[in-house]
Amino acid sequence: MAPRVYVVDDDALVTESLGTALRLETDWEVATFNDARVALAEMDGAPPDVVLSDLKMPALPGIAFLGKVRERFPTAVLLLLTGYADKESAIRAINEVGIWQYVEKPWDTADLLLTIRQGLERRDLVGTLHRTNAELEGRVREVEAAHQRLVASERMAAVGRVAAGLAHELGNQLALVGYAEAIAARTEDRKVKQFAEVIVAAQRRLAAMVDELKDFARGTDEEYAREPADVAGVVEEALQILRFDRELTGRKLRPHLRARPLGRIHRGKIMQVVINLVRNAAQASEIGDEVEIAIAEEDGGTLLKVSDRGTGMSAAVQARLGEPFFTTKERGSGLGLGISRRIVEEHGGRLVVRSEAGVGTEVSVWLPGLEVAATATETETETETGTGTGTA
Ligand SMILES: Nc1ncnc2c1ncn2[C@@H]1O[C@H](COP(=O)(O)OP(=O)(O)OP(=O)(O)O)[C@@H](O)[C@H]1O
Ligand SMILES: [Mg+2]
Repeated sequence: MAPRVYVVDDDALVTESLGTALRLETDWEVATFNDARVALAEMDGAPPDVVLSDLKMPALPGIAFLGKVRERFPTAVLLLLTGYADKESAIRAINEVGIWQYVEKPWDTADLLLTIRQGLERRDLVGTLHRTNAELEGRVREVEAAHQRLVASERMAAVGRVAAGLAHELGNQLALVGYAEAIAARTEDRKVKQFAEVIVAAQRRLAAMVDELKDFARGTDEEYAREPADVAGVVEEALQILRFDRELTGRKLRPHLRARPLGRIHRGKIMQVVINLVRNAAQASEIGDEVEIAIAEEDGGTLLKVSDRGTGMSAAVQARLGEPFFTTKERGSGLGLGISRRIVEEHGGRLVVRSEAGVGTEVSVWLPGLEVAATATETETETETGTGTGTA
C-alpha cells in the first residue's frame, strides 16, 4: 500500500507547491491541510505514515501538533518544516517529540524525498525488529516451559523407578502378613482372633496403598483398553462406591448428571479419577458441606467438575500440586491428584485445578468425545463401504 502523507502548513502556497511536488514525484497518497486541527481530525479515519508540518502555525503550533500525532501514531515518520531562524527549537523538537528530521525552507525537493524515504525505510526496519523481537521472546518462553516440563518429567521418572521397586518389595512382604488371615480362621482364642483381624484389616489397607503406588510407578506409555461409555454413568457408579467411604460422612454429594456425553474411556480408571477428586473435596470440607459433581458437554467432549467450598489451597500448596507424595494430610499418600491427572492425560484430556484458600476448590476434567477418538476407524469404514457422501 502506498504511504499516506499529510502536509500541514498555514501558508496555502507552501501546501500547494509541496503537495504538487510530492504527487508528481511519487505514487504516495498526499493530503494537504492549512489547519493542523483539521488534519488531526482527519487522521482518525486515515492513519498517517508521514506527517510534514510547519513549525509556526497560529491555531496549533507545529511541535504541539506533531506531539499529538506521535502519541496516537507511534510509528509515523514526522518532519518539521522550519525557517533558518528557528533551527534551535527544531532541534529540540527532534529529541522531545521524536521527530525524524527538520527541513529548512526553502526546501530542495530531491533532498526532501530522500529524507522521507529514509524515514519510511527506518520505520519498516524498526517494525520488523519489534516483530522479530516479540517472536524471539515467545520462543524463549516456549523453550523455558519445555525445559520445566522436562525437569518435572525426569523427576517423576526417577520417583517412579523408586516407587516401582518399593511397591514390589512391599508387595512381597505384605503377602506374608496375609498369614494373619489364616491365624484368625484357625484360632479358638478370642483375643488372638481379634488381634489377627486387626492385622488383616491393616494388611488390606496397605495392599491398597501398594496398588496405588504400583499404579503411580506404571509407565505412561502403557496402553489399556478403552470403550465407548456414558461418562455420567461412570460417575454415578463412583458415587455409589463413595457412599461407603467413611471420610465422606456427613458431606452432601450433589450430582448434576443430566448431560450424558459419551467418551472412549477405561471405566475403572475414570472411576478412580472421580473417587480421588470427590474424596479430596470431601476431605477439605466440613460435615454438612456440599460437594458438587457436574457433567456437561463442552468442545465436543465431556466436562466433569468437582467443586467444594472447603479449605481451598494456598498458593504455596498449589505450586506443589504436581509433586508426587506431596500431601498436607496426616494419612494422605500425596498421589491421588497426580495419578488422576495422568489418567486424564492418557485419555487425551486435561485436568485443571482452580482453588482459593478459605473459599474452595474446583477441579475440571475435560475428556475428548467419541468422534475425536474414533475418527480413524470411521474413515476406514467409509473407505470400505464406499459411501462417503451420506454421513449420519
Ligand atoms: N479439593 C481440595 N481442597 C483442598 N486441598 C486439596 C484439594 N484437593 C487436593 N488438595 C491438596 O492437595 C494435596 C494433594 O492431593 P492428592 O489427592 O494428590 O493427595 P492426598 O489427598 O494428600 O493423598 P491421597 O493420595 O490419599 O489422595 C492434598 O494433600 C491437599 O493439600
Ligand atoms: Mg487425595
